[in-house]
Amino acid sequence: MREVCDRMEEEINKGLGKDTNPEATVKCFPTYVRDLPNGKENGRFLALDLGGTKFRVLLIELGDKCSMDSRIYAVPQPIMIGPGDGLFDHLAECLASFIKERELGDEILPLGFTFSFPCKQESLIKARLVCWTKGFQCSGVEGNDVVELLNLAISRRGDVKIKLIAVLNDTTGTLMSCAWKNHNCRIGLIVGTGTNACYMEKLEKVELWDEDRDNPPQVIINTEWGAFGDAGCLDFIRTEYDNNTDRESINPGRQLYEKMISGMYMGEIARQVLVHLVSQGLLFGGYTSDILLEKGSFFTKYISEIESDKVGDYNNCRNILEELGFNDATDADCANVRHVCTSVSRRAAYLAAAGVAVLLNRINEESVTVAVDGSVYRFHPHFHNLMVEQISHLIKPGIKFDLMLSEDGSGRGAALVAAVATRIAAKS
Ligand code: GLC
Repeated sequence: MREVCDRMEEEINKGLGKDTNPEATVKCFPTYVRDLPNGKENGRFLALDLGGTKFRVLLIELGDKCSMDSRIYAVPQPIMIGPGDGLFDHLAECLASFIKERELGDEILPLGFTFSFPCKQESLIKARLVCWTKGFQCSGVEGNDVVELLNLAISRRGDVKIKLIAVLNDTTGTLMSCAWKNHNCRIGLIVGTGTNACYMEKLEKVELWDEDRDNPPQVIINTEWGAFGDAGCLDFIRTEYDNNTDRESINPGRQLYEKMISGMYMGEIARQVLVHLVSQGLLFGGYTSDILLEKGSFFTKYISEIESDKVGDYNNCRNILEELGFNDATDADCANVRHVCTSVSRRAAYLAAAGVAVLLNRINEESVTVAVDGSVYRFHPHFHNLMVEQISHLIKPGIKFDLMLSEDGSGRGAALVAAVATRIAAKS
C-alpha cells in the first residue's frame, strides 16, 4: 500500500509540473474553480449531469435550503458509441423537454454542466475532452470543447434559452456540494462507474498554472487518477484477472487504476476469478454455466448483495448463483464465492484509500472532510469502513479526516459552481 502511495504521489507531482505533465499519467487538470461556496449562494439554476449511462437534468433552487427537481434520462448504448453530434443533440433534446414540462419558457436560466470525463480546461467555461472513459466512444468529440458542442446542439434546436456558466467534473461537483455546508471539505471523491478525485491545491504547487496566482492562491485540481497505472506503475500488483478485464474493455491499456476499483469493472474481475476457479475444479464441482462464461454477466451489484448476507447465511448468494445458472451450489461454493467478492472489493477499497491518503498528506491540514459519492461507495456494505481503516494506516500522524457521503453532489455542485461564479463576477 505504501508503494502504491509513493508512486501515486510521484505521478501527481509529475502531473502538476509544467515540463513533466506531458508524460504524467495522473494529469492533474486545474478546474478554474478557486472559491468554495460560503453557504449564502442563492438563485435558480439548471444543471446537466453526464457521466455514465444515465443523464440527469436538474432545476436547483439555492437559498437557506436547497430544493431540487430533476429527471433522469437514459443514454442508449448506440448513442454512447455513435457520432458526437448525436450525443449532444440527445442532451439538448432532453434539456428542451425538461424546460417545456416545467414551463420555464422565457426565463433565461444559468446552467452548470457536469461532464465527468477527462477534460483539459482552458477556463471555467471551456473544456476539451482528452479521451473518453467508462464505455463512451463518440466520434468527433476528443480534442474539442464540450461546452461549444453543447451550445451548438442547443442552437440547432433553437427552442431553448439558457446561459452556460460553468463546466465541471463530478468530483468537483461533489466537493463543492459538501463544502457548501462543511467548511473543512477539501477533497471530492467518486467511486461509482468510474473512480476519480479532486482536491484543493495551493497554486504555488501548480507549476502548470499560467494565470494569476493570488486572490485566492488556490485551485481545485481534477486529478483524473483513474489513469494511474497506465505507464506500468501498478504492474507489480496487477493480476491475470486485471489483464483479462482490461484486454476485453473498450479502452485497453487505459484507466488501469480505475479498472481495479470502480463499478464498471469490479464484477467482471470477480467473474474472471470465478471462471478460473471452476476451470481448476475448485468451484461448482468443476462445472461452469453458459451465463458465467459471458463477459459482463457478474454484475458489480452482486458483490454488494453477496457481502450483505450475514456471515454464514447465503441467501442473496444462492439467489444470484441461481440467476447465473447454478442451482445446486454447496455451502462451500457459496463461502468461496463470497471470499472472491470480499477480496475484490477489499482490494478496491484499499487502493482508493491509498489515493485519498496521498491527497490528505499533501493537503496536510489538521482536519479534512472528504466528500464521497458513487454507487460502489454508496451501496457496498463495507466500502466506507474498509477505506477508513486503510486511510488511517497511511496518513501522517495528527491528521484527522472523515469520509462524508455527498449525495447528488455532481448535479447540485454544478449549480454551486455557477452560483459562486455569478457572485464573484458581480463583485468585480
Ligand atoms: C472517470 C472519468 C472522470 C470521472 C470519474 C468518475 O474516471 O474519466 O472524469 O470523474 O470517471 O465518474
